[in-house]
Amino acid sequence: MTLLVTGGAGFIGANFVLDWLATSDEPVINLDKLTYAGNPETLASLQGDVRHQLVQGDIGDTALVSRLLAEHRPRAVVNFAAESHVDRSIHGPGEFIETNIVGTFRLLESVRGYWSSLPVASVSDREQVPSRSETAPTQESFRFLHVSTDEVYGSLDKDDPAFSETHRYEPNSPYSASKAASDHLVRAWHHTYGLPVLTTNCSNNYGPYHFPEKLIPLMIVNALAGKPLPVYGDGMQVRDWLYVKDHCSAIRRVLEAGRLGEVYNVGGWNEKPNIEIVKTVCVLLDELRPRSDGKSYAEQISYVTDRQGHDRRYAIDARKLEAELGWKPAETFETGIRKTVEWYLANPEWVLHVQSGAYREWVNKNYTGRLA
Ligand code: NAD
Ligand code: TYD
Repeated sequence: MTLLVTGGAGFIGANFVLDWLATSDEPVINLDKLTYAGNPETLASLQGDVRHQLVQGDIGDTALVSRLLAEHRPRAVVNFAAESHVDRSIHGPGEFIETNIVGTFRLLESVRGYWSSLPVASVSDREQVPSRSETAPTQESFRFLHVSTDEVYGSLDKDDPAFSETHRYEPNSPYSASKAASDHLVRAWHHTYGLPVLTTNCSNNYGPYHFPEKLIPLMIVNALAGKPLPVYGDGMQVRDWLYVKDHCSAIRRVLEAGRLGEVYNVGGWNEKPNIEIVKTVCVLLDELRPRSDGKSYAEQISYVTDRQGHDRRYAIDARKLEAELGWKPAETFETGIRKTVEWYLANPEWVLHVQSGAYREWVNKNYTGRLA
């Protein structure tokens, strides 16, 4: 059996692929457009591993996706591919509409074509969830898992309860609106055509291989470079943080046992104001890589103009996932953030390559002939 992962050279997708192949021999076809955010260097440890094939391409390329599906006959598609950065969506929403909405639509259509060509399972097999021990996917066992965000639910006031799966959609940024649209398409493809879908809506992730344009890696990288740490507005916006490996384990669990057509919120009950996150990063760096002048990295904090339309608070109620599927995060925020800072300290080359774009040279040299 095979898995088709899209966007598997990005932050969460690559962590998912690495985790998957660390514990499973089930091959992964990894379809990624390799935008600025897609970095095959993250997958360097899989070089020469026959269980992993990286294919450079667009989820909206119907001919390519249909060919990959027909050739590899995956039992599931896990869709990470997206434009993912809110600030970029504010300054240039076009790509977000193209990939997150039109791309997801085209992907759904390619997958629907493949899925309807699969054999129908015998009556006795119908109730079974997809399993690695099966030899070929059927219409009943196939799954399309769509990875989405808590930002589709909009912004909470200070005392509002956390987002549950029934919270209404109120996306505020071009990014969250495009993700909300994609969630609706996925829902409609299930309701109308019967496509066996699952959707996960997760809170803010952090961890290894996070592109240093997002809050936590940007603060680590800027601090070490002696640059200002730009905190938007008053820094009191609240996000709910989850270590990326815990997000990956949740996706895996939903893929294994999630109920068809259901939505599962994923979060770690870790609400923190941004300024607290930035100060925590500074404290860890003060301990692990003290500044040569003996001062704290917190001296580099610089309050800057707020983001346009900045959502004040996100919080995830993950009780459905915990109660139904028994999922729990393995990391607390304290353990996860320490691991993250340690990872960035141990991997300056990855950061350097990502920042300079030099990973593209690395890709050309190392992946020649492997990218379709
Ligand atoms: P990322 O930007 O790091 O990675 C996205 C990947 O998708 C990149 O490898 C990129 O090359 C690829 N891609 C972009 N457009 C593509 C296209 N048209 N066809 C094929 N590949 C394409 O993003 P991420 O942080 O890893 O997020 C992955 C998914 O998880 C996204 O759908 C995002 O909305 C969702 N999500 C992210 C977070 C978070 O905190 N980062 C939280 C919840 C949900
Ligand atoms: P970000 O990592 O971009 O994720 P998202 O916007 O999807 O939540 O930002 C996390 C929070 O940090 C958000 O409230 C904006 C804030 N932020 C800053 O204060 N400064 C920064 O330089 C960045 C990138 C984000």
